[in-house]
Amino acid sequence: GGAKGVEKAAASALPPLRLLAILAVIAWTLFLYLQFSVLSAAVEVEEVSHGADSADPCRGRYVYVHDLPPRFNADIIRDCRKTEDHWGDMCGFVSNAGLGRPLADRADGVITGEAGWYGTHQFALDFIFHNRMRQYECLTNHSAVANAVFVPFYAGFDFARYHWGYDNTTRDAASVDLAEWLMARPQWRRMGGRDHFLVAGRTGWDFRRSNNVDPDWGNDLLAMPAGRNMSVLVLESTFLHSSDYSVPYPTYFHPRSDADVLRWQDRVRGQRREWLMAFVGAPRPDVRMDIRIRDHVIAQCKASSACALLACARAPGSPQCHAPGDIMRLFQKATFCLQPPGDSCTRRSVFDSMVAGCIPVFFHTASAYKQYRWHLPKDHLNYSVYIPDADVRRRNVSIEAVLRAIPPDTVERMREEVIKLIPRVSYADPRSRLETIKDAFDVAVEGVLDTVARIKKGEYVDSGRPVSEDPPNLYVSTESS
Ligand SMILES: *[C@@H]1O[C@H](CO)[C@@H](O)[C@H](O)[C@H]1NC(C)=O
Ligand SMILES: *[C@@H]1O[C@H](CO)[C@@H](O)[C@H](O)[C@H]1NC(C)=O
Ligand SMILES: *[C@@H]1O[C@H](CO)[C@@H](O)[C@H](O)[C@H]1NC(C)=O
Ligand SMILES: *[C@@H]1O[C@H](CO)[C@@H](O)[C@H](O)[C@H]1NC(C)=O
Ligand SMILES: *[C@@H]1O[C@H](CO)[C@@H](O)[C@H](O)[C@H]1NC(C)=O
Repeated sequence: GGAKGVEKAAASALPPLRLLAILAVIAWTLFLYLQFSVLSAAVEVEEVSHGADSADPCRGRYVYVHDLPPRFNADIIRDCRKTEDHWGDMCGFVSNAGLGRPLADRADGVITGEAGWYGTHQFALDFIFHNRMRQYECLTNHSAVANAVFVPFYAGFDFARYHWGYDNTTRDAASVDLAEWLMARPQWRRMGGRDHFLVAGRTGWDFRRSNNVDPDWGNDLLAMPAGRNMSVLVLESTFLHSSDYSVPYPTYFHPRSDADVLRWQDRVRGQRREWLMAFVGAPRPDVRMDIRIRDHVIAQCKASSACALLACARAPGSPQCHAPGDIMRLFQKATFCLQPPGDSCTRRSVFDSMVAGCIPVFFHTASAYKQYRWHLPKDHLNYSVYIPDADVRRRNVSIEAVLRAIPPDTVERMREEVIKLIPRVSYADPRSRLETIKDAFDVAVEGVLDTVARIKKGEYVDSGRPVSEDPPNLYVSTESS
């Protein structure tokens, strides 16, 4: 009985003890909660209002934009005259949020600024992309909830201002400065910068001096440790198992609404294509042997009555190749647009011709198939023709004969595929917003977010895993491929 009595006494003593304990826990919880919510009220609100909500359309898509000092962007734009000795001054191209001057179409009044057409420079993407980012619907000011961090450094413009006649140290100065600035930020420490991205709107070769055949070309942004950790969006990837991802060159077309896109797609769909094929460009007699195919293409085009040739002089500023209205008019009148490599494998012209609904003809797999994995479909032969350059160079294969052999309904299907791709390869006007259609910017940001998410999961990710096989040589005997 005595033992039971002790138990009873203990049992009756317990409730007040338990109560005290519970009260203490509640008090501590309250105290800690208040502390925490005062310290991080902003983040809490963000998470409650959308971060933790599965119905949140921005879930997984938040981008934080670093507020860089102006020496990394605005001041570089102000320096636009610095490039004028070699590439002509860029100042005319930075108006209208980077789109350049509106086009005035004297011939038929279609390719005009009012319809979304500008004289856009092929290397103006740094600035256009940054401006376009201001319209991105999932920006956040709270880096802790961001899925990726955008670094608005104008790397391509920085290359241009210090490329000619400056030593390595001067060329690299802004990149070194940027790396120091970024690495001192808490946002960097979280993932060693692996969730950061920037746009270097030129080819990757311009930012990899140490890997180049020519040790006097470019700066070393992509080769330095901080540069290697960020995803860097370039116009042509170097495939060096790195983090330079290719995105389309900017074209002249910058729609402001879904209606602009649909109107233009209808127009190119209805065009009468009087030329079987077209080529716009200058000869490149001095490039490396394996991509030296332009002379053959130009010779075949000249010799064919079915080919429209807009021949350009090599000199910068050769006027006929910088009249965007003429180029776009020609591409709309051709079924196929010939896209041989030039100084390098990729060309801005690929995207100009696709915007005109002209089916691109490639001679090298690095011109598109190994690039632009985010933007172009995997079934490359659904929207383009592939004629291996060796067929043309060594076997004198007739481009015209190859193209004529493609059945009309196949041509029709390919053109429709090209027309569908128009918004994906166009950068919308950064001063307005497409309602439902995704532009090249949207696709690029999705690509970055996906890349960062995979890195976070511990996957090994790099840009340099080229497609393992060339596409089949559909239209020519395969012996030479
Ligand atoms: C971020 O902060 C700036 C300045 O306070 C403000 O103008 C902007 O609207 C904020 N952006 C977002 C997405 O909250
Ligand atoms: C790059 O990322 C790796 C892996 O996250 C990290 O160990 C390294 O310190 C980072 N480099 C720099 C320069 O932050
Ligand atoms: C500049 O850098 C490259 C490689 O990054 C090097 O090969 C070259 O010697 C350097 N030039 C000078 C003058 O130091
Ligand atoms: C693309 O081509 C493949 C065959 O290579 C075909 O199976 C597929 O249906 C095509 N896709 C479209 C959208 O035409
Ligand atoms: C290539 O073929 C064309 C006709 O298709 C011919 O006129 C030309 O002479 C040939 N060139 C060579 C180098 O064989």
